[in-house]
Amino acid sequence: MKLNIENAIKFTGEKSFSKSFDYALMQMETLNSGIGAGNEFLGWINLPQSYSVEDVAEINETAEAFHNLDAVVIIGIGGSYLGAKAVIESLSESFKKTTPEIIFAGHTLSGEYHAELIEYLKDKEFGLVVISKSGTTTEPAIAFRLLYAEMKNRFDKETIQKRVVAITDADKGALRELADKEGFKDFVIPDNVGGRFSIFTPVGLLPVAIAGYDIDEILRGASISQDLCLEKSPGNPALRYAAMRNLLYAAGYKIELMVNYNLKLNYIAEWWKQLYGESEGKEHKGIFPASVSFTTDLHSMGQYIQQGERSMFETVIFVNDNSNAPIIPEVPENLDKLNYLAGKDMEYVNRKAFEGTLQAHVDGGVPNLLIELDLIDEYNIGFLMYFFEFACGISGYMLGVNPFDQPGVEDYKRNMFKLLGK
Ligand code: PA5
Repeated sequence: MKLNIENAIKFTGEKSFSKSFDYALMQMETLNSGIGAGNEFLGWINLPQSYSVEDVAEINETAEAFHNLDAVVIIGIGGSYLGAKAVIESLSESFKKTTPEIIFAGHTLSGEYHAELIEYLKDKEFGLVVISKSGTTTEPAIAFRLLYAEMKNRFDKETIQKRVVAITDADKGALRELADKEGFKDFVIPDNVGGRFSIFTPVGLLPVAIAGYDIDEILRGASISQDLCLEKSPGNPALRYAAMRNLLYAAGYKIELMVNYNLKLNYIAEWWKQLYGESEGKEHKGIFPASVSFTTDLHSMGQYIQQGERSMFETVIFVNDNSNAPIIPEVPENLDKLNYLAGKDMEYVNRKAFEGTLQAHVDGGVPNLLIELDLIDEYNIGFLMYFFEFACGISGYMLGVNPFDQPGVEDYKRNMFKLLGK
């Protein structure tokens, strides 16, 4: 992974970047020494390097038991589903279902979605992975109640025990009680890892392994990223990213647009939005994280980005891989006037669109940070996600907030429970 901030420094100057970098370095010390706010939730920092061969084997063995099923429903919301969804979407072929098919539920209260899911599962052999750190979140709890009832209607006790896995707290919460009582296979979410930082726990790794992807490679990428992100060096991408985005924020760029040129990365952006939004959006402060996919959204949001209010910067993820791109054929009649592209692969056109757009947006007043990946695979995705997590810790401290709590999430629940008569 390469991070290029040249087209952002242009907007702020080298000198202020250097000052911001020094401040980022200070905040990295605070993070690593465990003396900052929310320091009871720093277990994620060393996760990629803390796995034993046995830990990985246990996850893989559990996943294997699901491989003969038609579908596995992953039930969770927020940090308890976005990481897994992001990895699976980025690694999966666009028009091919994984075996088993991975379906997400409990991430919405839409009755229609769940009614249609129950109907869809009617003639399928399916399993359930229910994930909730607190074990009390309403959305996944309702979805599990519905789907577990379906299971009980169709399968015997022995089958059910093989087909349900719970991932939750070691001792607390209704899901822990239920898992113990019903005898489900379970994994524990460590106390010191918050939901949005849990991709490298079984919360993220088990669904990814069930989908058939190599979790060893994900952890290897994350582990190499960890080594790099902890370096006190000018080349540390986490320090550079955190320093640059905070500097831009202070200069009035209050919105960060995560941009990709490959639709498979859309859920990486959704995961990133939760990570940064929930970590930084507090005390009436914080960059607003948003996302677009180009060139698709150039035809909807491109006008605003080019000429609307100048309050945003872009972080572009571009993948330098054309190995699977179709070659544009020569057509004698050339009625569509595209023969000037004949013989080129489609990613070549995508790259030129990316280069042209980047320049146009920078010229139009949108600072740009560029992340380049060699390809989308387990290693690179693991590397990228750890980088974003570590930079988020530094960035939150630079902003002066506790990046590891989410007190604001409780407010809607209080009102909802009151209205529901809980
Ligand atoms: O990051 C967080 O802590 C939250 O987004 C949670 O992941 C989300 O609210 C789901 O919580 P739980 O896993 O307790 O069901």
